[in-house]
Amino acid sequence: MTQRNAIILAAGKGTRMKSKLYKVLHQVCGKPMVAHVLDQLEGAEIDNIITVVGYGAETVEEAIGTRAKFVLQKQQLGTGHAVMQATDLLADLEGQTLVVSGDTPLFTADTFRKLFEYHTQRKAAVTILTSQAPDPTGYGRIVRNEVGIVERIVEQKDATEEEKAIKEINTGVYCFDNRKLFAALKLLKNDNAQGEYYLTDVIEILKGQGEVVTAYRMKDFDESMGVNDRIALARANQLMQARINANLMKQGVTMLDPATTYIDAGVKIGNDTVLEGNVVIKGHTVIGSDCYISAGSRIIDSTLHDNVTVTASTLQEAEMHDGSDIGPNSHLRPQAEIGKDVHIGNFCEIKKAYIGAGTKIGHLSYVGDATLGKDINVGCGVVFVNYDGAKKHHTNVGDHAFIGSNSNLVAPVNIAADSFVAAGSTITDDTNQYDMAIARARQTNKADYAKKLPW
Ligand code: UD1
Ligand code: CA
Repeated sequence: MTQRNAIILAAGKGTRMKSKLYKVLHQVCGKPMVAHVLDQLEGAEIDNIITVVGYGAETVEEAIGTRAKFVLQKQQLGTGHAVMQATDLLADLEGQTLVVSGDTPLFTADTFRKLFEYHTQRKAAVTILTSQAPDPTGYGRIVRNEVGIVERIVEQKDATEEEKAIKEINTGVYCFDNRKLFAALKLLKNDNAQGEYYLTDVIEILKGQGEVVTAYRMKDFDESMGVNDRIALARANQLMQARINANLMKQGVTMLDPATTYIDAGVKIGNDTVLEGNVVIKGHTVIGSDCYISAGSRIIDSTLHDNVTVTASTLQEAEMHDGSDIGPNSHLRPQAEIGKDVHIGNFCEIKKAYIGAGTKIGHLSYVGDATLGKDINVGCGVVFVNYDGAKKHHTNVGDHAFIGSNSNLVAPVNIAADSFVAAGSTITDDTNQYDMAIARARQTNKADYAKKLPW
């Protein structure tokens, strides 16, 4: 088998992004652009992946981890100069080398595979991946001769008016014969509008050497789009979102309005789950089958099992077991684990707490640092008082306990199974099984006093 290498160009600053963040780390559907490129390369049977880093090298390397080798381009002198940085690692190897930019997040492994195939069949020195752009502004243009053979690539800034009218663009992806690429790079000059060593000029050099230069024209321009500014970033997000949503729908997820359903790459959702429009599902979230997620929900890094209903609520690093429901307008914070068939109603916040099966927390409660058993009723407005100003403390509530409305459970405290806390109590002492605890001032009624009031 031919050895297959890939070089990802990711050393640029991304000036046009006007950002503190290095360009290739800008996210598309929750994942850095360069990670999308890596995902697809990994799916295209490539033996050796090298990333050229420069601006923000450390941060970019951290984001990529062990998925690629790195070479450093100290000064950003152009895409050709970037590829030269891989000379020590690659120049002597037989085989094929794919070059791709870290700012083209939508390419698929399938396209890379087809490019290798086309290149191999033509026995070419280089095959340029091209596409037909509705608006080619900003891209390098493919200049062909009278009989349609590729001559060279001309950059926007170096193009004549006639060349600017060409709609076939350089996608920035190429398949090279590895040795021929590195030999040609030695001849590269920077006598152009930007004073850079353009990788695109390698085409003309190889052509001049009588090598076979071909172009493989892909059908879908959208897949080839490059992200140089925030407008393109927004467009890339839309396109990726449409792709993610279409895949989920093919797997049996119902979406009432896919155009306003924002789901990160990598989120998993089971079949017969229904998503209303205007939902956001991010990070490492996994959602089971037969769930219903309403408009206004935001679910981040959470696990929902089957048959779970979320109504206009926010979940972060939380877990909801089968048949549980929440909302509207409630908030699960990190380490909230909601048991089977639990009902969390409206305006509740739950943090670092386990809620046992069948328990109900219907309205306006805060539960933090607590372990609740099964079939408990937590009345309206109950506060688990977990913080003394310095430390957090834990509360335990046993099975079948009843916590009356507007109670405060001052932690650390244990409410025994089957015990009953009267409404309005501020509980500071543990209860025993079957106790009824009342901790509130007694009521006094002053007869006829209301008549003396001024109104
Ligand atoms: C490049 C191509 C253009 C093509 C377009 C497709 C060149 C000269 N032009 O233009 O023909 O149509 O991509 O999207 O190649 N980079 C480095 N080091 C450098 C310069 C750039 O690593 O010194 C990296 C950037 O981080 C980026 C990639 O190379 O990921 C492409 O650079 P960019 O400046 O975005 O090139 P374009 O102007 O888009
Ligand atoms: Ca670009």
